[in-house]
Amino acid sequence: MYRSHTNGELRASHIGQEVTLAGWVQKSRDLGGMTFVDLRDRYGITQLAFNLEENSELCMQARKLGREFVIQAKGLVIERSSKNANLPTGEIEIQVSQLTLLNAAKTPPFTIEDETDGGEELRAQYRYLDLRRNPVQQKLRLRNHVALETRKYLDSKGFLDVETPYLIKSTPEGARDFVVPSRMNQGEFYALPQSPQTFKQLLMVSGFDRYYQIVKCFRDEDLRADRQPEFTQIDCEMAFVEQEDILNMFEGLIKHLFQTVRGITFEGSFPRMTYAEAMATYGSDKPDIRFEMKFTDLKALSSGKDFPVFDKAEAVIGIAVPGASEYTRKQLDEITEWVKRPQIGALGLVYVKCNSDGTFKSSVDKFYDETALKSWAEATGAKAGDLIFVLSGELDKTRKQMNELRLRMGTELGLRKPDEFKPLWVLDFPLLEWDEEHGRYHAMHHPFTSPKPEDFNLIDSEPGKVRANAYDLAMNGVELGGGSIRIHDRALQSRMFELLGFTPEQAQEQFGFLLNAFEYGAPPHGGLAFGLDRLVATMGGSDSIRDYIAFPKNNSGRDVMIDAPSVIDEAQLKELGIKL
Ligand code: AMO
Repeated sequence: MYRSHTNGELRASHIGQEVTLAGWVQKSRDLGGMTFVDLRDRYGITQLAFNLEENSELCMQARKLGREFVIQAKGLVIERSSKNANLPTGEIEIQVSQLTLLNAAKTPPFTIEDETDGGEELRAQYRYLDLRRNPVQQKLRLRNHVALETRKYLDSKGFLDVETPYLIKSTPEGARDFVVPSRMNQGEFYALPQSPQTFKQLLMVSGFDRYYQIVKCFRDEDLRADRQPEFTQIDCEMAFVEQEDILNMFEGLIKHLFQTVRGITFEGSFPRMTYAEAMATYGSDKPDIRFEMKFTDLKALSSGKDFPVFDKAEAVIGIAVPGASEYTRKQLDEITEWVKRPQIGALGLVYVKCNSDGTFKSSVDKFYDETALKSWAEATGAKAGDLIFVLSGELDKTRKQMNELRLRMGTELGLRKPDEFKPLWVLDFPLLEWDEEHGRYHAMHHPFTSPKPEDFNLIDSEPGKVRANAYDLAMNGVELGGGSIRIHDRALQSRMFELLGFTPEQAQEQFGFLLNAFEYGAPPHGGLAFGLDRLVATMGGSDSIRDYIAFPKNNSGRDVMIDAPSVIDEAQLKELGIKL
């Protein structure tokens, strides 16, 4: 028996018991007559005590232990003279009578403690050591808990977990595919699924009714803090449902997860907003509604005062930033430079300080008098002590820029609290999105999404205005998940492919299996998928999903620990029939 207890288990009630512990040496302290060793495993830390006078040989042995040595210790649980209130095991220590070295260790490249001195790159390279650290383990424990409770909830609702293949043919979810060469079918490639979308729809045709899968998805896209090339979805589909049924079912899942995992209750139903409203009010389809700073259209109020920038602009949008009238010139200059960076692309920034004495000071005093500025304050809801920011230009671009500025100000003013959770259903997404680069429409969600029946009549005349039965769940500015009611009619699906620029032959070639399946009695169906990594990171109060993945990739898509991707040898290439 390697151990009788874990290192997080022993309490004052165990005093007097003989125990055996095993684990890693976190650190040892030599205090002359006594040597103390902190023994760690994933459950906690227990202090081992060695007395030089009572057992000098053992004490000498203990003094030789280095950081991260793996040891086993037998001894008596005794009361500690100086208790440590910060440790659950802090009331006791082990008076060691037998010490076994199970494995020595090289000095680790960084300290394996809650606070570490290791930089990100180094910790990524030695991820297996970083994973020994308690804060990192906590995150994976949270992930495990969320996955477990997801299964419990969906199982209780009659969902079946069905696996779908990873070696498939391309699924059009908007990103590039990762492809895998086939040795047995030279010159041909599999694609890794961007999601199991078409398979879950086929399962509905097969009568499975309620499907789910916690599943890896693969997308070759530019990476960000909340994007990984391989990530995990809680992927779900239901037959014989309307949008309302799906929203209720998965609102229930999110409530269950917050309740069981974080002890947080959401009262009432999640708020809902249309896509159009979200874009007009927040400039984002995943607004962070933990704070206000809603957009105000200042076009009418700002026009006709000979300020050519606003007069010419398609949109003039203002926000009231609470309590920020004291921002200095230097701070305002810095924010102006920030919105002008190419990543944001604003041409300039107008500000109005609503001074606490009721006067106004703006960067456009030349064009707007007190009365005009007062009307802006009234429109945006700015009070004395607040600051108004105004951006102008093309509507869509200005909204996006203002969204960035709003989020920055929210962060800067501490309004985006990590322990506050604000879900929001965003509904009625447009069916199609105009692709400037290729001069054609593509599906905003995916090509299997059903248009709203009341917008059918616009499909030929104004396809860009057609709304879809598509929805996202946003929380704290993160898109946690999204889905749609699907097309289940072959003719409509063919029409959709046509809108997206597929010839009937191309549609048949790529999606024949699905179109054919729709001819054999496809039930009405719909579903959604949550990003598990994003859900867990959000629940953990973080916006980086990487910390919640055991072995993540860096921003260049590399796994620096195993050094992938890597070149493969000539023989392997030859076998695959590939010449580079
Ligand atoms: P969608 O493409 O919106 O929908 O993806 C669903 C959710 O998956 C998460 N997600 C990601 N997480 C981390 N890294 C990525 N690269 C990444 N891409 C997406 C997001 C997102 O909301 N088949 C449809 C779902 C459906 O219609 O049922 C789909 O995949 O949280």
